[in-house]
Amino acid sequence: MENHEKLLAVKGITKEFHIGGVFTGATLTAVHEAHFDMEADKPEIFTLAGESGSGKSTLARLILHDLEPTQGSIVYEGHDVTTIKRRKELMQFMQKVQPIFQNPFEAFNPLKKVDRYLYATAMNFGVVKSRKNADEVVDNALKSVGLSLQEVRGRYPHELSGGQLQRIAVARALISQPRLLIADEPVSMVDASLRMSIVNLFKDLKDTHGVSVIYITHDLATAYYISDRIAIMLRGNIVEMGHVEQVLSEPLHPYTKLLKESVPEPTTKERWREKIQFSTFEVKEFARVGCKFTGRCPCVMDICHKEDPKDYVVDGRMVKCYLYAEK
Ligand SMILES: Nc1ncnc2c1ncn2[C@@H]1O[C@H](COP(=O)(O)OP(=O)(O)O)[C@@H](O)[C@H]1O
Ligand SMILES: [Mg+2]
Repeated sequence: MENHEKLLAVKGITKEFHIGGVFTGATLTAVHEAHFDMEADKPEIFTLAGESGSGKSTLARLILHDLEPTQGSIVYEGHDVTTIKRRKELMQFMQKVQPIFQNPFEAFNPLKKVDRYLYATAMNFGVVKSRKNADEVVDNALKSVGLSLQEVRGRYPHELSGGQLQRIAVARALISQPRLLIADEPVSMVDASLRMSIVNLFKDLKDTHGVSVIYITHDLATAYYISDRIAIMLRGNIVEMGHVEQVLSEPLHPYTKLLKESVPEPTTKERWREKIQFSTFEVKEFARVGCKFTGRCPCVMDICHKEDPKDYVVDGRMVKCYLYAEK
């Protein structure tokens, strides 16, 4: 039985990395029992936000079938992606779930004209039938990102700005008509003045093409602006998740509250529109039980050190904190 109601179901996914030697090594928990769903008939922008090292990219790579989970599964349109073995099935999946990376200059070979990539992608995914049709497919993809084949044809990456190149990367991702884009810090290498236009592009694609987006960022201002839902990650754990307005305006988890308080602005709603960023200093989280916020939490209790908090549902959002445990 296929369940097409869900576009994506992330089910208790965990990724551990073993660092160091076989006997002396340590286990680092990059992602711990993450779970969330995205609906098939309701395109949305779902943001994963957190400081450096909180596990955002690892979670993205797990969803993209680029890393094997230690535990749990990723189900795309009813199919368990984690167990895909056949090339054909993998191609079908890759067609529908496309990544967008942080640095567009790394995504393109400096010696190759950028339109070549677009044509190659169209050929590889078998979405074109003839040369003329290829021009059309490529031009349409470029038009969805505010460019055209005429503007781009014959250009090398260095002849384009970071913002333009990131748009072209998005165009390339769109060629296979994906249903889900996974954009890992897509604007952090783009000139500040162009960031909003790229971020808006994702919103546009959702509204006009029905494409869902997992938007990964450490910048809460852009997250607030484009997201429908947000998940706050702390050292491998999703600690709070729900509608962006609710989570950021009335945070429940002490960590999300702390984030809000760290912004020196009087009005709550306006706060998140300011430039709010998570720390880019990476903290490693080695395997240990208990809440990952005990060290800084003003409400810490005994139990917080002893057992992992569960996911509690409060006012329609998820919060991983003992303060909200049913008594
Ligand atoms: N291939 C790997 N081997 C070992 N550790 C890794 C690997 N990839 C990521 N990590 C570690 O996993 C944690 C989460 O990393 P990452 O997912 O890149 O975080 P983020 O994208 O939120 O900055 C970090 O501590 C990172 O050092
Ligand atoms: Mg990352």
